[in-house]
Amino acid sequence: MACYFLSGDKLVKIRKNVGFCKYGTTTKTPAATKTYIINRPSFYLWQLHSKANNSTLVQNESSLRIAIQKGGRLSEKTLALLENIGLEFDSYKNRILVPCRNYDVELLLIRDDDIPEYVQDGICELGFVGRNVTAENKAAVTSLRGLGFGKCRLSVAVPKNGGYKSLKDLEGCRIATSYPVLTRDHFEKQGISIDTIEISGAVEIAPTLNVADAISDIVSTGGTLKTNGLVELETILESEAELIQTNRAIAPHKKELIQKFLMRIGARQQAEKSRYIMMNAPSGAVGEICRIIPSLKSPTVLPLAENDMVAIHSVIPTHRFWEVMEDLKTAGASGIVILPIENMIV
Ligand code: PRP
Ligand code: ZN
Repeated sequence: MACYFLSGDKLVKIRKNVGFCKYGTTTKTPAATKTYIINRPSFYLWQLHSKANNSTLVQNESSLRIAIQKGGRLSEKTLALLENIGLEFDSYKNRILVPCRNYDVELLLIRDDDIPEYVQDGICELGFVGRNVTAENKAAVTSLRGLGFGKCRLSVAVPKNGGYKSLKDLEGCRIATSYPVLTRDHFEKQGISIDTIEISGAVEIAPTLNVADAISDIVSTGGTLKTNGLVELETILESEAELIQTNRAIAPHKKELIQKFLMRIGARQQAEKSRYIMMNAPSGAVGEICRIIPSLKSPTVLPLAENDMVAIHSVIPTHRFWEVMEDLKTAGASGIVILPIENMIV
């Protein structure tokens, strides 16, 4: 039996064993041999196979494998996070599998829509992906933590002057979306019947083209909706980037790697929430300043060469800085310096 993958509209024959590939549509070639057109995730797998000198992906027991989005909304921040926790990678350009120089981990760079499935199937132990994508794919994975970036929501939006006041007004309407599963579920739960029109990009233009009456799409700043004369009617799902883990069995040494990885991410997240603050103040003002600064530990107070002046150092939650700055000045603080913290283990 021959195996093929679909590259653009060309069928390419696979010579190597593709072991655990999932097969997509079955069809027949003109030569009447049985042909399997392999779906896109498997195409990547095949590429990996062919690059991995006979060692198959599943047999690779050494490195922890993490799926991340190849180009797109989340990739930049995900890579920044990985670098901020001390991981060093070779160039990502034109690579699918990127090894790490100083941690036993490798990155698999794929389309975000494919990530939940890769993690579900245990091809990657971990994945960085938007909650919206995991939910739409109904992937059986465990969400380890939200990452605080890539915040967006899946919302139903309607033409501004279309007269739609609530979801019920969309009974019998056509909804264009790249999220047919979540959209249908949401309407079904409310007993409203709709037709979903599945579109993979530029969903917001569908009502103008009269391809649909309304849309269900990702909203981040709301700019796209505004530009297209659409307004939000209802939120289906709140989303952010998440770290997901496979539900499949994980080798003990990889579990350990995951624990350490999570510890580093936790330290980084904590650090991002905090700032290091330094200021000078008259010794007499220390009591008042200590009341103002909501520090994690008691602040460090150091004497200065100048009489009756001290330096005060502490850590404060980032968002509190702007709230307390004026109070600090009023209390007598001067030369206030605020510094980012690279990593913080509490
Ligand atoms: C999403 C969505 C909108 C846009 C909304 O697309 O489909 O087009 O973001 O963002 P805004 O509220 O900040 O304007 P995305 O950029 O993820 O690309 P995609 O359409 O290719 O998925
Ligand atoms: Zn996408």
